[in-house]
Amino acid sequence: MIGRLNHIAIAVPDIDAATALYRDTLGAQVSDAVPQPDHGVTTVFIELPNTKVELLEPLGEGSPIAKFLERNPAGGIHHICYEVDDITRARDRLQQEGLRVLGDGEPKIGAHGKPVLFLHPKDLTGTLVELEEA
Ligand code: CO
Repeated sequence: MIGRLNHIAIAVPDIDAATALYRDTLGAQVSDAVPQPDHGVTTVFIELPNTKVELLEPLGEGSPIAKFLERNPAGGIHHICYEVDDITRARDRLQQEGLRVLGDGEPKIGAHGKPVLFLHPKDLTGTLVELEEA
């Protein structure tokens, strides 16, 4: 059911420093930083030949990654995102299997303008998983 790895998201305390590291030291192609106030983060996308890495820095009060950075002050892998063809069908099937969907269970428009939802890490080998409709 899950398809391509869409991105790996890394929470960072300083997105400018992290972007410079990926651009200058690792030689990757990086986007500009984009504030996403609806999602409480600023994002930078790193384009790799086979997938993307998404750098996330907290933005504003109550950012969804603030607690994660308190526990991981140097940053760390926050979630991985798999593509699915039909997000509602995927959700229904996974809920039937006993996996928990975060929030109210309804897909939301994510940072790429496509419907996304998040699955509880305790149900998925300790990994926060985002599903994005491809
Ligand atoms: Co994501």
